[in-house]
Amino acid sequence: MYQDYIGFGYDRDGLLSLMASRLSQKRFQHCLGVEKSAMTLARQNGYEPEKAGLAGLLHDYAKELSDEEFLALIDKYGLDPDLKNWGNNIWHGKVGIYKIQEDLGVTDSEILAAIEDHTTGSKDMSVLAKIVYVADYIEDNRHFPGVEEARQLAEVSLDKAVAYETAHTIEHLAHQAVPIYPQTIETYNAYVSYLKET
Ligand SMILES: [Fe+2]
Ligand SMILES: [Fe+2]
Repeated sequence: MYQDYIGFGYDRDGLLSLMASRLSQKRFQHCLGVEKSAMTLARQNGYEPEKAGLAGLLHDYAKELSDEEFLALIDKYGLDPDLKNWGNNIWHGKVGIYKIQEDLGVTDSEILAAIEDHTTGSKDMSVLAKIVYVADYIEDNRHFPGVEEARQLAEVSLDKAVAYETAHTIEHLAHQAVPIYPQTIETYNAYVSYLKET
């Protein structure tokens, strides 16, 4: 049950109401999609569906905070000052977990780590972190060239799906001529071998 991980006692319906009030309709639907995909990936990989579903649902909880709110959280919690050189894409995971703890009382370190790293991946991802990372990319509302291949890979191997997603994310960012967060490159290097295996 979701309540088991939410210190402040929200059940799923309570969480959904809160999230619907804080997120655009589109992003709220995306979170529901990631919840569903995360539960499917959990079942396929011998992980607890409930815990994966909750982490998936909450992964973008902080996505629509203002830049000012993120910058204030970075100061409040004494986080790495380099974070201030990045933006919402990095902040909503790495800083967003502090908002999730404040608002919901989530303390489970595995859930928090999975949400923390959901845009960058990491070289040391737990099974849950891989599930959330991949679910974010392949959930049903996602439509982009390559998503079908990512979905197929995810059915075969979570690691291959992580590798594919990271390579394509880096390619996408490079084409847009924007900086790439170093941890994303670390994830790529840690998983690149899975791209070559058959
Ligand atoms: Fe996100
Ligand atoms: Fe997302």
